Amino acid sequence: MSKTSAFLVLLASVSASKLPPSFSIPKSDAVDHVNALIGNGGDTPNGSGGMIPSTAPPFAMTRWVAQTHENYVSVTPYNYTASNIHGFQGTHQPAIWMGESAQVVVVPGIGDVKSKFEDRALKFSNATEVISPSYYSVDLDAGNGNKILAEQSATSRVGHLRFTFPQSEEGFVLLEATRPTVITSTPTNITYPLGSIAIDPTHREITGSNSERQDWIITPTPTAANASHFRGYFCARFDAPFAEWGIVQNGSTAAGTTAGDGSLLSGYARFAAGTRTVNVRVGVSFISVAQARRNLDNEISDGVSLEETARRTRAAWAEKLDRITLEGASEADKEVFYTAFFHSLQFPYEQDEDGHYYSAYDNQVHKGQSYTGYSIWDTFRAEWAWLILFAPERVPAMITSMLQDYQQSGWLPMWKNIVETNIMVGTHADSLVAEAVVKGVKGFDTDLAWEAAYKDGVVPPENDRNTTYSDREENVGYEVRAGLSSVYADNGWVADDVHSESASRTLDYAYDDYALYRLAGALGKPAEIVTMLYDRAMTAPFTLFNNATGFMEARNADGGWAGPDAGWTEGDKWAYTFDVVHDIPALARHRGGNVSFVSSLDAHFDGGHNDHSNEPSHHIPYLYALAGAASKTQERVREIAKANYNNTPVGLSGNEDCGQMSAWYLFSALGFYPVNPASGEYVVGSPFFDKVTVNLPSHPKPLTITAKGAPSAKYIRGLTIDDQTVGSPVIRHEQIAAGADVRFEMSEVPETWGGR
Ligand SMILES: *[C@@H]1O[C@H](CO)[C@@H](O)[C@H](O)[C@H]1NC(C)=O
Ligand SMILES: *[C@@H]1O[C@H](CO)[C@@H](O)[C@H](O)[C@H]1NC(C)=O
Ligand SMILES: *[C@@H]1O[C@H](CO)[C@@H](O)[C@H](O)[C@H]1NC(C)=O
Ligand SMILES: *[C@@H]1O[C@H](CO)[C@@H](O)[C@H](O)[C@H]1NC(C)=O
Ligand SMILES: *[C@@H]1O[C@H](CO)[C@@H](O)[C@H](O)[C@H]1NC(C)=O
Ligand SMILES: *[C@@H]1O[C@H](CO)[C@@H](O)[C@H](O)[C@H]1NC(C)=O
Ligand SMILES: *[C@@H]1O[C@H](CO)[C@@H](O)[C@H](O)[C@H]1NC(C)=O
Ligand SMILES: *[C@@H]1O[C@H](CO)[C@@H](O)[C@H](O)[C@H]1NC(C)=O
Ligand SMILES: *[C@@H]1O[C@H](CO)[C@@H](O)[C@H](O)[C@H]1NC(C)=O
Repeated sequence: MSKTSAFLVLLASVSASKLPPSFSIPKSDAVDHVNALIGNGGDTPNGSGGMIPSTAPPFAMTRWVAQTHENYVSVTPYNYTASNIHGFQGTHQPAIWMGESAQVVVVPGIGDVKSKFEDRALKFSNATEVISPSYYSVDLDAGNGNKILAEQSATSRVGHLRFTFPQSEEGFVLLEATRPTVITSTPTNITYPLGSIAIDPTHREITGSNSERQDWIITPTPTAANASHFRGYFCARFDAPFAEWGIVQNGSTAAGTTAGDGSLLSGYARFAAGTRTVNVRVGVSFISVAQARRNLDNEISDGVSLEETARRTRAAWAEKLDRITLEGASEADKEVFYTAFFHSLQFPYEQDEDGHYYSAYDNQVHKGQSYTGYSIWDTFRAEWAWLILFAPERVPAMITSMLQDYQQSGWLPMWKNIVETNIMVGTHADSLVAEAVVKGVKGFDTDLAWEAAYKDGVVPPENDRNTTYSDREENVGYEVRAGLSSVYADNGWVADDVHSESASRTLDYAYDDYALYRLAGALGKPAEIVTMLYDRAMTAPFTLFNNATGFMEARNADGGWAGPDAGWTEGDKWAYTFDVVHDIPALARHRGGNVSFVSSLDAHFDGGHNDHSNEPSHHIPYLYALAGAASKTQERVREIAKANYNNTPVGLSGNEDCGQMSAWYLFSALGFYPVNPASGEYVVGSPFFDKVTVNLPSHPKPLTITAKGAPSAKYIRGLTIDDQTVGSPVIRHEQIAAGADVRFEMSEVPETWGGR
């Protein structure tokens, strides 16, 4: 999901200052090439990735970041052009078009305690920042020539800050529990979330809670009632004695007070003059303050140094990123590649604590693992395939988590941010489940997975016939396949005069039916169900094909065409006409056969209609290869990579969307892409580097991709996998998933392999 905008070309390349040696352990060339400012730039929220230079391990429950802005839907907490830092934020905002939930902010200072966002600002120069996935530091200007050195690391559920105050000053650290917030994408609706603070000077702790969840207005009914109990909790423990403490509420300080409730609430501790260094560890929980304290003790126990915390987090990134080595990549290529890898392993994020998790679907604490931050309309395309390869140890629990959501809310998630948010269309969780089963992933309840996914295919949402289910519509039920009741009972399509985004829905539901068909087949479901799903998947897309124009078009309930621009979400008739990933031969036939189909792809690209900044275009360059024109896929993929990715703050042309922008680059760099994810197949593109060596988790045999000359030779003359000649540009997951020797013969001119 992302909104389009012109891609800004090249600012100066940013690369973070050098890490101090004590924070460079273990050694990792891959982690050293992460440039966490990539994707932070842009003039509009949709101008780049919406990414922040966060510090946390992979898939962390809470990511920590220097706070330059009050974040909300469309604004991230960090903007690299800012000149003030207002604290260090433990954030749960998973993507720029999503809101924050239950954040906590840690603010250092000297002199009078200031809690309000503007008042507590400390100037900084970005020349003093050190940015890495495991460690961040910056010099803050505290006025009168005083400097505070702020350093940050984190584990999944605990932030670790270390502040070094000026010798002669009494430093303080403030914990902000609640702030004013906005709940719509335009900051007109200011609200005041409630929370609490308690100060325990004996145990050097400040604890508290925060009820902020910016997306509450789009929670489907009736889940919203239970989710209204959602809270975040924190337990901050200091390693220095408190000389003074107090509560600040709406700017008024009550020194010596140890408890407070309500809005605009913070608590602080001040340290005796001469206390130069203060470590504060902030355990975060969605369950309770007691659990936040347990998380703190479990993950960063008393006496653990910041160096040690950072070393563990760096080791966690190195364990993943060092799995891929590149030969023939420039320094800039390596930054783009490893930052993409870094971005691809952040979501969905852990929501369980110590073997338990809080579910806002039913307001209960359950046993087990849980994840949240599922942007499935985006991530079903390639990010999920990437996780199956590079985070296989987590995929069963990620699916089990979705099944728990089903048990607690009645449906699999679409865009889960703590709970469902009803954003975007289609029930692509069906695809996640089907792809996992087709690729042989074990370790989750397939009976329950079938029950949940099949329900998506056959049960419409509540009040389906009289609810539009428009984007971010408030006070409606769980959206799932809105319009489903009319698709199969009446027409074969979602009617544009009844439902929003009708044409995109029709096409996406057809793909989801294909995923269900694959799932049903793999699980041995009755033949009539398999056939029913297959027929729906193959028939529905072409009910929208307007023979007169050669494009897909939305239709009304009475069968009339709704117009070429109606019924699309985050795309147009150009991109969406190619949205039949499960039946490209039929689409090619409708467009007059392979030759004419290839011409239509040329018209799409040459006419400037491909919008790589948004997901509906991501698979399109790969379609040439499925129509006998593989060399054109090779050209287009290279052009897109060059035009849409670089190692600057605007180095992502579109929103990252929980890893999908990066997953496109990563697969493309390896030389193949999952056009039709549930099929278990990849379409071959054009590998970018001379050689890529991949040590897949739990497979002793490496996956080596040799493509000598690839940096300058983009065309393919031949391909072998484990010495077997591959004659067509399609490879199956099992050919590579347990390691393989993939050899491309590259060429500087278009070749006949796969078709010119
Ligand atoms: C991109 O963002 C700008 C400013 O926020 C907005 O005006 C524009 O409509 C957005 N574009 C799309 C396609 O959403
Ligand atoms: C970052 O801040 C600058 C300066 O205020 C602003 O122009 C830009 O739009 C912001 N970037 C994003 C992605 O919001
Ligand atoms: C530092 O901030 C300045 C001023 O906003 C900006 O122009 C520059 O690109 C930033 N540099 C880095 C490395 O972020
Ligand atoms: C948000 O603001 C608009 C206009 O100011 C108002 O109509 C609407 O009721 C507000 N929504 C909420 C949830 O407060
Ligand atoms: C905060 O204090 C100001 C006066 O300083 C007052 O106008 C405002 O209503 C207060 N806000 C809340 C939410 O209590
Ligand atoms: C709310 O939670 C209760 C369990 O605590 C559950 O029985 C009920 O179904 C939930 N309600 C909704 C609307 O999800
Ligand atoms: C839609 O129909 C249902 C059931 O007939 C009714 O309860 C509901 O109020 C209707 N909603 C609207 C928006 O008309
Ligand atoms: C398009 O033409 C095909 C035959 O060429 C026909 O089967 C199909 O019904 C037509 N589709 C529409 C929407 O008119
Ligand atoms: C179209 O091209 C594909 C890929 O080369 C090929 O498999 C298919 O048979 C072609 N279709 C026709 C009708 O020739």
